[in-house]
Amino acid sequence: MAAGIGYNAPMNSRRSRRPRRTDARSDGREAQVAAVAAEAVEPPDGRLLLTDDADGALAAAIATDPAPIDRWDRLARGDRPARPWPAAGPFAGATLRMPKAKAALDMALHGLASVLAPGGVLWLYGANDEGIRSAGKRLDPLFAEAETVLIKRRCRVWRAVRTDAPARAPLAAWRSTITIALPDDVGARVRTGAMVEVPWVEYPGVFAAGRLDPASAALLAAVAPFGARDRVLDFGCGAGALSAAIRRTRPEAALHLLDADAVAIEAARENVPDGALHLGDGWRAAPDLRVDRIVSNPPIHRGKGEDFAALAALIAEAPRHLRSGGMLELVVQSQVPVRPWLEAAFARVEAVGDDRRFTVWRAR
Ligand SMILES: C[S@@+](CC[C@H](N)C(=O)[O-])C[C@H]1O[C@@H](n2cnc3c(N)ncnc32)[C@H](O)[C@@H]1O
Repeated sequence: MAAGIGYNAPMNSRRSRRPRRTDARSDGREAQVAAVAAEAVEPPDGRLLLTDDADGALAAAIATDPAPIDRWDRLARGDRPARPWPAAGPFAGATLRMPKAKAALDMALHGLASVLAPGGVLWLYGANDEGIRSAGKRLDPLFAEAETVLIKRRCRVWRAVRTDAPARAPLAAWRSTITIALPDDVGARVRTGAMVEVPWVEYPGVFAAGRLDPASAALLAAVAPFGARDRVLDFGCGAGALSAAIRRTRPEAALHLLDADAVAIEAARENVPDGALHLGDGWRAAPDLRVDRIVSNPPIHRGKGEDFAALAALIAEAPRHLRSGGMLELVVQSQVPVRPWLEAAFARVEAVGDDRRFTVWRAR
């Protein structure tokens, strides 16, 4: 068991070396932030919507109150479902856990404004190092009377009241179309290295903000050739950049795209129109899927902090999802201690690309 990362060591481990955790992020942060928010939230006289209460800590802390609680989670967590936009209101109050990206904060505020009744109350909460101190400036004009109602343990809670300013809704109002440059011949036996501009759909807060992430580019440059009809899983697909690139070279491959972010899945739906989509937290999203290849630029953060739990679980369970002869290829920042996890789950592990910043790993 990897202490502290909430992850069970791979079954059938070939080695006793254990994953080393290099960060301090944790469930502790979520619990601490939620505990502070719970002190400030006064359940309203009507329906309360809890947004991105990832671990359910806030819900648990205020569960004794009789006010009915609804949830909106953009990111799937455990068995809790995710959805890209809140369910229809009206709600008398809503809480919002500070999102990582400002653009995602703005979209979430509009989402909540579109389902809060006029005069409904919003509580926005987060930790100082997440930008919560200045977040109050972003509430106007959807919300008025913004004030900090609690500062404690390096966390802050804002309270504000819904105005009648129109919200930008629904989700489609946040869709934008751009072009991104993708490699033209991924996983081909001979590569030209040529790049091609393709139309691209994006939404606020979806990785990698309208461009090909450099780590993903490193992975695409190093992947082994694909068979014409391979079944390929893009684990942590974001808007679908890896799959869209593979699709160019392998029009008949069966592409599966998996992500915990419900908004990312909406982008992927358009960027890889014939891909099979799986929305959920890691392998929970596709418990029975078996493929020839898994490619991933995996999540190594949760919110502000590093968190390797999803990465460790991806690796540990990958062999069960691979057909005979299949392989997992992933890219991580070179300092992420991934080799022992791969060696615990796979017989052959090799670094097939390393530019000092990112290492591409192949395991089979
Ligand atoms: C580094 S990004 C890579 C995105 C995309 N593959 C690319 O190359 O642009 C990692 C992705 O993993 C997703 N993710 C985070 N936690 C996850 C989880 N528990 N299960 C599945 N996907 C997750 C994030 O939403 C994000 O889209």
